[in-house]
Amino acid sequence: MKVKNICCIGAGYVGGPTMAVIAEKCPHIKVTVVDINESRIAAWNGENFDELPVFEPGLGDIVKKTRGRNLFFSTNVDQAINEAEMIFISVNTPTKTYGKGKGMAADLKYIELCARQIARVSKTDKIVVEKSTLPVRTASAIKSILDNTGNNVQFEILSNPEFLAEGTAVEDLLFPDRVLIGGDNSTDSGQKAIQALVEIYSNWVAKERILTTNVWSSELSKLTANAFLAQRVSSINAMSEICEKTGADVSEVAKAIGMDSRIGSKFLKASVGFGGSCFQKDILNLVYIAKSYGLDQVADYWEQVVIMNDHQKQRFSDNIVSTLYNTVSGKKITFLGWAFKKDTNDTRESAAINVADNLLSERANVSVYDPKVSSKQIYADLDYLGTRSNEENKDLLSVYKDPYEACKDSHGIAILTEWDEFKNYDWKNIYKQMNKPAFVFDGRGILDKDELGSIGFIYYKIGSGD
Ligand code: UDX
Ligand code: UDX
Repeated sequence: MKVKNICCIGAGYVGGPTMAVIAEKCPHIKVTVVDINESRIAAWNGENFDELPVFEPGLGDIVKKTRGRNLFFSTNVDQAINEAEMIFISVNTPTKTYGKGKGMAADLKYIELCARQIARVSKTDKIVVEKSTLPVRTASAIKSILDNTGNNVQFEILSNPEFLAEGTAVEDLLFPDRVLIGGDNSTDSGQKAIQALVEIYSNWVAKERILTTNVWSSELSKLTANAFLAQRVSSINAMSEICEKTGADVSEVAKAIGMDSRIGSKFLKASVGFGGSCFQKDILNLVYIAKSYGLDQVADYWEQVVIMNDHQKQRFSDNIVSTLYNTVSGKKITFLGWAFKKDTNDTRESAAINVADNLLSERANVSVYDPKVSSKQIYADLDYLGTRSNEENKDLLSVYKDPYEACKDSHGIAILTEWDEFKNYDWKNIYKQMNKPAFVFDGRGILDKDELGSIGFIYYKIGSGD
């Protein structure tokens, strides 16, 4: 089966960059990305390629090259489904906020809506590709909806989880460690569907990096990869607290263990806690799946990764309060960074949100500077928690466009995101303008301890005991 038209439902952090790269690498395929959110589609179609809805280094250039050639953004979901031979589902699957599995299970409402829409609209055979991260065995639910409500056309379901990390999405898509495709190898049409997707990726990915498995292994591999990655962060964060008590330095410990080729050096950076739309959601989902099979020990094991992460955020804010003489009420505390990691404007589950919330509950005046996150987003993140009224959040927290203004008259600066620019600030100048003693709480371990110390700062670095 030769695919000439691809439709992707969901123009978010996954759908947008993934389809842009497919369009660039497969000029013979027309790729249409659709979304129910009109303003998001308008922004993808906007004049300014530096202001796409998703900020990713290198993405603007690719969209500039492909948009209007073979990459299209549209709100006409029905038409795009109808024209396509292959449909990617990249809609979000947030943690359920209601009913059974509340706070744990993935909410599959949007996935089901997509499946029903595909079933209703399709007049020709389709390959439906799960791009969103889903609980294991979701494909069977999608298949059941498609087969029972469709117009008697044939559907093949593939699982093709996306492993890109935000901030490096384009790089990860262009040079993936592996591409994973799960499908039904036991039937002729299943094999053909798998082959059709393999062929698409083969346009730029070496064959030996394209793995094919059964659907359930593919679905579960994505949850497993995220659980393992998050577990490494929680493990090193657990050690960071021991380091602080014992005089060890977590970056030295990380280096020492990372040189063991069995452990490897990546994902061993202690931090104020992991964030992002995936780690917590996917682990809680895994915990829910384990519990639903009665595997309580397995569930408890993985839940601890999230518990440790919550603890890391809490102890970071507790440390700020206790260091500032047990009161931050009325004191200006500056946050450098709000995004969940550098080089992205995404704030979902960012540690900054909880740390700010804790400090606001202590009546601190928090001022925030982030190079890419808008003030609208910052207030929306806080308001969503519902800890206090939106007005109170506005009163207590201010957002600055200039980092030096954000730091002026501050009692303490907290580094929440590891943006490179923070390293190159004029820290002498910042020190001069602050209340004394001037504190820096480095939740990312990016600043130079000796330099800050010599300027006069009292410098706390996560995981550093001396
Ligand atoms: C991704 C993955 O797809 C998800 O499975 C993963 O676990 C988290 O990351 P992401 O691209 O980051 O989601 O989500 P988001 O940026 O929220 O984009 C999803 C888009 O789907 C939104 O623009 C939303 O408007 C759109 N959508 C949602 C639809 O078009 N139709 C729907 O029915 C629901
Ligand atoms: C993650 C996975 O890496 C990716 O494969 C998957 O597709 C989606 O989820 P993402 O959440 O975009 O990607 O970013 P990632 O680089 O994994 O970082 C997640 C969080 O962990 C960030 O808050 C980051 O700051 C934190 N982190 C990461 C650490 O604190 N220490 C580390 O050593 C690595």
